[in-house]
Amino acid sequence: MKSRVLLSFVLLVTLVLAACQPAAPTEAPAAEQPTKAPAAEQPTEAPAAEQPASTEPIKIAMLVPLSGPVPTFGVSTRDGGMLAVEEWNAKGGVLGRKIEAVVEDSQCTPDPAVNAANKVIDTDKVKYIVGETCSSASIPVSEIAEEKGIVQISPTSTNPTVTTKADGTAKKFVFRACFIDPFQGLAMAKFATEKGYKTAFIMLDQGNDYVRGLAEAFEKSFTELGGKIVGKETYTSQDTDFSAILTKVAESKAEVLYLPDYYNIVNLVGAQAKEKGVTAVMMGGDGWDSADLDLKAADGGFFSNHYSPEDTRPIVQDWVKNYNAKFGSTPDALATLAYDATNILLASIEKAGVDDPVKVAEAMASIEWEGVSGKITFDEQHNPIKSAAVLQVKDGKVSFVASVAP
Ligand code: PHE
Repeated sequence: MKSRVLLSFVLLVTLVLAACQPAAPTEAPAAEQPTKAPAAEQPTEAPAAEQPASTEPIKIAMLVPLSGPVPTFGVSTRDGGMLAVEEWNAKGGVLGRKIEAVVEDSQCTPDPAVNAANKVIDTDKVKYIVGETCSSASIPVSEIAEEKGIVQISPTSTNPTVTTKADGTAKKFVFRACFIDPFQGLAMAKFATEKGYKTAFIMLDQGNDYVRGLAEAFEKSFTELGGKIVGKETYTSQDTDFSAILTKVAESKAEVLYLPDYYNIVNLVGAQAKEKGVTAVMMGGDGWDSADLDLKAADGGFFSNHYSPEDTRPIVQDWVKNYNAKFGSTPDALATLAYDATNILLASIEKAGVDDPVKVAEAMASIEWEGVSGKITFDEQHNPIKSAAVLQVKDGKVSFVASVAP
């Protein structure tokens, strides 16, 4: 079973390699046909008020969780985004103007994220936002962005409703650089099924949009693929003792324990599951991706993610090298997607030819971008269609196991 997955990965890598343009990340901005940009800067189109401001820096905001439950997410997202800004500034900025990044701590939590969004829009007069990281924070920020006409691109928020309105159509100003949870849940359900597992137990925090959405997606796909959900239990983000639930997991004899939460919860649940002798294989999603994931607690587990630093495409290897030279560590998916998202935003401003969020949102909707995390074009719901990587935690290491195509 495993060999079939591996085979399809090898095939995928070969295809991606063939399609990939070996542009170094530092060259990425140049790929966006600079000849188009000045042409769009028609003096007649620019409002009079735009003229005196045109030598001012273009401000962008990064809303990232530097404090709160998942601070490694914030640090990685900020660092990846800032690297893109530095590279653009080194090449002269965007529309001939320097880029200034305003970084706000939005805590992966709705209220602080809303306050941070209002602050950067109303006080700093920012018209473009990269962020937030977590879906529960990105969703309320997206309502503000849509209402105030501010372009928002979340690097990593995978819940579908970040970019869509209640009627299912896209929010005009809101985009993301990552795949969405229905696909991420399907990817792990497929992987579990191909490994021969037939039963799964799901643990979830109902109050977290990301966790709830991913749990639903996995349940649906695993069941459709012939698997059985033999138990489902909820907890809250404040819980620290999971022993009652873990007793039920052990009694259910489930082969898989699906735990699609962030690393802070995975560390607790994983350690307690090991103490209790739970034998189910733990599986989860991108929320496991952190330098602070407890590799002992999560040992033997698998999670879906957006990229692997082991990917041999030159664009990935250049990115890993540049990031390492600057920060002394291997970039995680959050840093990588923040780099891609910031590049897409700046390339869209350049493509629009004018510092106007309405035009930039239009330009972004039709952009094509060769990112580190894959080739990005947006569908009708402003979501990129991309493959997922399955990673395994084993013997103190996280390694690449398979790629699942959409
Ligand atoms: N996908 C998560 C969310 O929507 C955020 C995340 C992305 C966390 C990538 C880790 C790695 O909340």
